[in-house]
Amino acid sequence: MAVFLCLFFAIIHGALSEENVSMDSITKRLEYLENKVMEQEKENSYLRSEVTKCQMNNDNTRNLVDTQLSKRFIMDTQEGVIAFTAAISPKVVDHVKDNDIIKFDTTITDVGGGYNNITGVFVAPLSGIYSFSCSLLDHSGIHQGPDGAMIHAEIIHNQRLLGRIFAHASTTYRDQGAQTVVAVVKQGDQVFVRSVDNQDLGLGGEFYSTFTGHLLQFLDK
Ligand SMILES: *[C@@H]1O[C@H](CO)[C@@H](O)[C@H](O)[C@H]1NC(C)=O
Ligand SMILES: *[C@@H]1O[C@H](CO)[C@@H](O)[C@H](O)[C@H]1NC(C)=O
Repeated sequence: MAVFLCLFFAIIHGALSEENVSMDSITKRLEYLENKVMEQEKENSYLRSEVTKCQMNNDNTRNLVDTQLSKRFIMDTQEGVIAFTAAISPKVVDHVKDNDIIKFDTTITDVGGGYNNITGVFVAPLSGIYSFSCSLLDHSGIHQGPDGAMIHAEIIHNQRLLGRIFAHASTTYRDQGAQTVVAVVKQGDQVFVRSVDNQDLGLGGEFYSTFTGHLLQFLDK
């Protein structure tokens, strides 16, 4: 606006200094300038609305990013992946007795840090619906009778029996039993595999015997 006023006074000044310039031409130039100002105002208001649109888009994008970030945060802290697999690595684990917790010594996967390969116990880092699988190789070894040897084992959740595993190795063949269960487990609960009805058997390793668990669904309580 200031620019136009300056121009205007410059023209008037010019016009007045020139005796020969008619009022007519001054009026024409004024009209021309008025039109210019109106055009500029239109353009300004158009630009102003474009800027507002841009700001709105920007806000929307920021909101979207914030939402995604908070979702990611929930995923990481509450619904994060919990999954483990551990295996028995020696060829045979001798002298497995009744109620012994079976120790799967080699950790293959332990996302969430719930499995302890020294104790053989999984401690749930979060409450939720979990799936557990166990596969055991029966290796009758030196303690076999004429019918070979049998192994029984149980998947235990705290004191609760979730499922049993059985395998019967003959004198010439080894045997493998397996079980899969799904259970609602609370944070801090223990899940492990223990042997039962066992007569000091050798348990087969070499990665035939494994214990696996993973969180299917996080639960708030
Ligand atoms: C004024 O304008 C007239 C015609 O419009 C012209 O003949 C004359 O020479 C001009 N005078 C000056 C001083 O410019
Ligand atoms: C046993 O678990 C610890 C801790 O997670 C790990 O560092 C170590 O490598 C594991 N040992 C084996 C043999 O998997």
